[in-house]
Parts: sequence; C-alpha cells; structure tokens
Amino acid sequence: MTDKVAKLVIGDESYEFPVLEGSVGPDVIDIRSLYAKTGMFTYDPGFTSTAACDSAITFIDGDKGELLYRGYPIDQLAAKGSFIEVCYLLLYGELPNKQQLREFEALVTRHTMVHEQMHYFFRGFRRDAHPMAIMTGVVGAMAAFYHDSTDINDPEQREIASIRMIAKMPTIAAMAYKYSVGQPFVYPRNDLDFASNFLSMCFSVPAEPYEVNPVIARAMDLIFTLHADHEQNASTSTVRLAGSSDANPFACIAAGVACLWGPAHGGANEAALNMLREIGTVDRIPEFIARAKDKNDPFKLMGFGHRVYKNFDPRATVMQATAKEVLDLLGVENNPTLQVAQELEKIALQDQYFIDRKLYPNVDFYSGIILDAVGFPTSMFTVLFAMARTVGWIAQWKEMIGDPQKKIGRPRQLYNGSPSRDYEEISKR
Ligand code: CMC
Repeated sequence: MTDKVAKLVIGDESYEFPVLEGSVGPDVIDIRSLYAKTGMFTYDPGFTSTAACDSAITFIDGDKGELLYRGYPIDQLAAKGSFIEVCYLLLYGELPNKQQLREFEALVTRHTMVHEQMHYFFRGFRRDAHPMAIMTGVVGAMAAFYHDSTDINDPEQREIASIRMIAKMPTIAAMAYKYSVGQPFVYPRNDLDFASNFLSMCFSVPAEPYEVNPVIARAMDLIFTLHADHEQNASTSTVRLAGSSDANPFACIAAGVACLWGPAHGGANEAALNMLREIGTVDRIPEFIARAKDKNDPFKLMGFGHRVYKNFDPRATVMQATAKEVLDLLGVENNPTLQVAQELEKIALQDQYFIDRKLYPNVDFYSGIILDAVGFPTSMFTVLFAMARTVGWIAQWKEMIGDPQKKIGRPRQLYNGSPSRDYEEISKR
C-alpha cells in the first residue's frame, strides 16, 4: 500500500480509495469497497483497466517490450535456460539448482504415460476432428482418469495434478496428432528430454528407428519456453475464473484450452500461417495491407498487434531468429512463406496505420513458419501453444488457490434489457 489515495467525486459526494503499489508496473486503485460506498460498479469490458488478481509470476512492460518470468527476462531464459527449468521457475518461484532440476525432470518424465484406457477414449473422436477439439475433451476427461488428484484442498493432490498435466499434455497432444494421421500412438521415452520425447511421440513410427535432430529439439524447447506464461491473458484469466469456483484443476485447464483456441488468442499462429500462404507472393502484400486497414473489411493481419505490447513483442524477436536457423538447417532455402513474412513485417512497420496504432509482429507471426518446417500441420499449432502454456496456467491456478484473498470470480454488468414485466399467455402474444 502507498500513502497515495484516489479521490472519486460523484455529484456532491467525494470518496477515497487506497492506491496499491506493485514491485514494478503501474499502481492500482483498490476499488473493492466501491459498491458498498457508492452503490455503483465500474464498467470495463475486456478488462482493459482492471487488475483482477495479485500475482508474482509474470510481468510484461508493454511499452518497453519486456517480458519477465519471476523477474528473469525472457531473452535470457530463451538463450541460456531450458523449458523444464522454466517450468520449475514458474511453479516454485526460483531457478532450480542441479539436483532440484534433476529431480524435477525425473518426476515429470515419470508421469508422461497416460492411463491406457485413454487410448480407447481417443478412438471415439472422428479422424478429421480438429486436434484442439480433441484436446479440450481429453484434458477435461483427465478428471475422470485421475480422480485421486482432484481435491483442491489437499496440497499434495494439487502438486500431483500439476505434474501430471505438465507431463501428460505432450503425450495427449502427440496422440491427437497421431490419431489424425492414422498412425499408431507412440509411447513416451524416458531416455529423451522433454522436447525430444515430444518429437519422438509425434514423428516416430514403430517400423523404423527415429533420430531426434538436436537443432529441431532445441527450437521446439525454445518455442515452449516463449509460450510458457504471459500474465493475465484471456485463457489464463479463464483458468483463474474456472478455478475460483473450486472446480478441479483438470476442468480448469480444459477451460483454458478452449479459450486459447480462438483466433484472437492462441489460434492466431494457425491463422497467421494460413494468411501468409494465402498472400503467397510478395507482390500481393499491398492488397492485404489495404484490407487490414479497411474498416469495412473484417480482415486483420494475423500475428500483428497485442493488447499489452505497444512495442516489439520480445518473443517475436527470438522466434524470428529461430525461424531462420531452422529453415537453414532443414535446407529450406528461399522459403516463400518466410519471404512473405519478412517483407510483410517490413512494409507494415513503415505504414502510418500500423505506426499510429503501435502494431508490431507478435509471437505468433514467426512460430508457424518453424512448426510448418518441422512438419506439423497448421491444425496442431495451437495444440503446441496449449502444451507449453499449461505450466503457466497451473502456476497461476496454484497461486490463486493459495491466495487467502481468493473469492469466486463474479463480474457485474451494466444492464440494458427490459425492466420487469408480466408474463403474457401464449394466446395473447
Ligand atoms: N491488423 C489490423 N489492424 C489491427 C490489428 C491487426 N492485426 N490489430 C489491431 N488493429 C487495429 C484495430 O482495428 C484498432 O483500430 P482502430 O483504433 O482504428 O479501431 C486498433 O488497432 C486497436 O486494436 P484493438 O482491437 O482495440 O486492440 P485489442 O487490444 O483489443 O486487440 C488483438 C489485440 C491481439 C486481439 C488484436 O491486435 C488482433 O486481433 N490481432 C490479430 C490476432 C493475433 O495476432 N493474436 C495473437 C495475439 S499474441 C498471442 C496470444 O496472446 O495468444
């Protein structure tokens, strides 16, 4: 709390509200007593000015283009750390020492297999189902398979549920992919690291040995690191809202997966690559830029813009460099999609419309190019995002459950419907 107070004047009455100070970032006005004092609510659709929780996990400075996990800049974690290290950091607040990392990695690795019965559950889906539809269903169904870790009031069960989700999400994601291509499910391999194991479950087949390319594995690990958490975005807020009712953790994460699917959120990586392919060649870029600026056209440049970043998305910078590395490694020279992406970025960044609105490429602009080169179909892109974001959702969910100030999330509204009226018999309508 600071000494500052915020004064609100409504008509002849004046009210004071405390101002709270975070460790970094803007102060917030504590309006929890607003309704009791004034009989009014605030109106903030899209929560553009509302802090819905107190959190110590992730911080974004949108003007500087800075992203911190537990205080560590994302570019340092991407360059020097690994996804599994980042998982530990997000969950427990500090970077692990060697032994802690070894133990944590072993714990996650030992939980990667899913209940055998789940294989039959998968078979109920149509082969052409979108893998995000499968993910939403299967993650929700984990509560049915692992009901011994659904008591949110038991810290041990909360911990087991957390590790289970981080460990099993890649297995479920790979199974969704294998199911869609008609290949047998591949069991996890405990001798491989997190990213290599995931690649093996997606791309190996029982008929021949599979060698993981370390550069691709490193690129995947980087993608997971960059997507691991992003403070109170739509899917994380969904997880928190679902969890605020004391719903079990599997149900909460399934809610997050469903929200992430939207093209304005995690679905943007799929939409961005589809858009780059639709543009096809550099000479068609001006036509699409014009459409993005036309208010009568719903088209938006996918992979551009962000609610919080009003500067470069620091994740996009790492992603752009990785995209080049992966394409070079795979010998994909003169990749037309990458060429369109690079040129589109250049043209948009010089355009007054994008400059005025501070619209920069976001993380999804380049991630699709890497995933496409690695061999994932576009429908899997958001699944990979969900896999990586699971640790962030869980860290935020655990933080909320442990918060003594936790309350069920229950926003109010500005009602504009009909006032009370009497029921009319159907014969008179
Ligand atoms: N292309 C063209 N114009 C845009 C775009 C875009 N991608 N994004 C925003 N604008 C315009 C928008 O039309 C508005 O113009 P005006 O002021 O003239 O009405 C202005 O910029 C402000 O946009 P907004 O819609 O009020 O901003 P928002 O904070 O509500 O939306 C966003 C943020 C990410 C939903 C939006 O920028 C968008 O839809 N981008 C494309 C989808 C995308 O790439 N999403 C991934 C986000 S990063 C990963 C993740 O979080 O999941």
